[in-house]
Amino acid sequence: MKKLTRFDLQNKKTAGESVVWITAYDFSTAQFAEKAGMDMILVGDSLGMCVYGYDGTVPVTMDQCICHCEAVRRAAPHTFIIGDMPFLSYQVSIEEAVRNAGRFHKEAGVDAIKLEGGVRVCPQIKAIADGGMLVMGHIGLTPQSSGQLGGFKAQGRTAGTAMELISDAKAIEAAGAFALLVEAVPPEVCKIIRDELSIPVYSIGAGVDADGQLMICSDVLGIFQAFTPKFVKRYAELGSEIEKVFREYAADVRSRRFPADEHTYKMVDGELSKLEE
Ligand code: KIV
Ligand code: NA
Repeated sequence: MKKLTRFDLQNKKTAGESVVWITAYDFSTAQFAEKAGMDMILVGDSLGMCVYGYDGTVPVTMDQCICHCEAVRRAAPHTFIIGDMPFLSYQVSIEEAVRNAGRFHKEAGVDAIKLEGGVRVCPQIKAIADGGMLVMGHIGLTPQSSGQLGGFKAQGRTAGTAMELISDAKAIEAAGAFALLVEAVPPEVCKIIRDELSIPVYSIGAGVDADGQLMICSDVLGIFQAFTPKFVKRYAELGSEIEKVFREYAADVRSRRFPADEHTYKMVDGELSKLEE
C-alpha cells in the first residue's frame, strides 16, 4: 500500500470519491486503522478527553501531541497522518505557530498539521504553508474555543453565522491550506463550502455532502463514556466488552482457574530434589 499524497486527496475530490479517516492516539489502534485501509489518521487533541480524561482539549500540551504522533507514525508508516496543534501552540504568535508545526514534522514525522479557526488564524496558516508544510483548517465547532462558543455546540445554524463560516473557509483556502475540516455544521452549509472551495472539504458531523468523513476512534468503538455527540455512529460497544473481559479475568484469578497448566513453564531437568537440598 502506498501512502496518499495531497494530490491523491485532491484527485479523489475531483473524482467524487469519499475519503475516510479516523483518529488514533496509540500504537495498537493506529495499526488496526492502517490494516483496515484508512486514507488518513488524525492524532487529534481529542486525546485530552479520550486518553487523559480532561473535560476538554484546552489542557493538552505540545509534548503530549508529539508523543502520540510518534507512536501512531511507527504503527502506520503507509498512512497519511495529521498532527493536531494543541491550544496555545499557534495562537500566541506566528513564529511560535511555525516552530510548533515544524516540531510535529521533525520529531514525529507527520504528513500535515491541523489547526482551529477561520480568518483569525490565516496569518499562521500562511506562515506554516510558507514554511513548506501542509496545513489543514478546521472550522465550525472548534473545541479549543468552546468557552467562546458556550460549549460543544453545533455551529452555522443561522444564515448569518453560516455566511461567516463560508467566508472563513474561503480565507483559509486563500491562506494556503491544502484541505479543510468542517465540524458540527448543518449539511447544506458544508455542501456550499465544499462546492465553493477547490481544496478538499471534510466533515465530522457536517453531513454526507463533503469530500470525506472523520470520526473519533473512541466514539465509533464505543469506548468514550462521558457523552456521545449527535453526529457519532457507534459501530461497537468495546467499552462493555473490555469490562466483561476484566471481570472474567478477575473471577478466574479469585477462583484460581487462572493460570492453568498451559500458562506455566516446565522445569528443564526435572530434578526438583536439587532445589530442595
Ligand atoms: O481532536 C480531534 O479529534 C478533532 C476532531 C474532533 C475534529 O479535531
Ligand atoms: Na482537535
